[in-house]
Amino acid sequence: MARPTVVAEPAEIRQRITALRASGQAVGLVPTMGNLHAGHASLLRRAKAECHTVAATIFVNPLQFNDPEDLRKYPRTPDEDLAICAAEGTDLVFMPTPEAMYRPQATTIVQVRGLEDPLCGQQRPGHFVGVATVVAKLFHLLPAQVAYFGEKDFQQLALIRRMVADLDFDIAIRSCPTVRDADGLALSSRNRRLAPEDRAEAPLLHQALLAVQALAESGEHEVATLRQEFDRAMGKLRRGKVEYAEIVDADTLAPVVRLERPARAAVAVAYPGARLIDNVGLLPRKGSS
Ligand code: PAF
Repeated sequence: MARPTVVAEPAEIRQRITALRASGQAVGLVPTMGNLHAGHASLLRRAKAECHTVAATIFVNPLQFNDPEDLRKYPRTPDEDLAICAAEGTDLVFMPTPEAMYRPQATTIVQVRGLEDPLCGQQRPGHFVGVATVVAKLFHLLPAQVAYFGEKDFQQLALIRRMVADLDFDIAIRSCPTVRDADGLALSSRNRRLAPEDRAEAPLLHQALLAVQALAESGEHEVATLRQEFDRAMGKLRRGKVEYAEIVDADTLAPVVRLERPARAAVAVAYPGARLIDNVGLLPRKGSS
C-alpha cells in the first residue's frame, strides 16, 4: 500500500500534473475537503479504475463557509485521510494552505448565476460562489482529464457542470452514486456530529425520497401529487427542521410542474449538530399519463 505523494505548493502540483499529461497519462481528479469516508473512497476507486494516475485534493475551503463556526468545527483528519488515499491507490494528494490558495489581494470570484440561488443557496448565501471559485482554481492547478464528484451534493454537481460548459474547461465531469449507511442515511463528514436521537431519525430523509421516487416510477407525472407524498413522508420528522423538500429540474434546478424530463427530489434538514442534505433522481415513465 504505497503512500501517495503529498504536495502543498500550487506551482508544484501544476507542474507534476502537466508533466503526467504530457507523458500520455490519463489523470483523474477527486476534489475533497478531507475527513474522508466510504463515499470519498468510492470516488477514488472509480477514478483509479478509469485513469492511470489519481490526484485527490484535501482543502477545507474557507470561501464556501458562510458560518465561521462551521469552518472552525469542520473535522480535519489528515492522517486518516492519507491512509484512505493510500488504500485506494491514490498517487498524488494536493494539500495546500488557505494562504497558498488565496492571495491576500485576490478579488476574483466565480458565480454560476441561477444555480447558486435555490435549495441550499437559500440557507447558505455565498456558499456556491466559494465552491465554484475553488473548483475553478483546482481545475487550473490540476489539469486532469476527468473529475469525480458525488451525487449527494447534486446542486454542486449541476453548478460545476454548468461552469465547465460556460467557461470551456477541458475536463469531463463524472457523477458517482451516493454511498449510504445500512439504514439509508447518506454518508457525510458531518453525520458524526448528530445527537443519537437525531441520528435515529435521519434515515427518514431517504425514506421520504424513496417514497416520491416510487410514485414517479409507478407513472405519476403530476408534481403536485408527488409533492403530497413528499410532504406526507417528511411530516414524520419530529426533531429536524425541514429547510426544503423540493422537486426540481435535474439540470437547471428550476421548479417542475410535470415530470417530463429528468428531475431531482431534494431535501435539507437542520439538526442542532448537523445540517443534512439528500436527493434522488426522478425519471418520467414513458407511455404513462
Ligand atoms: O464537495 C466538497 O467536498 C467541496 O465542496 C469541494 C468540491 C471539494 C470544493 O471545496
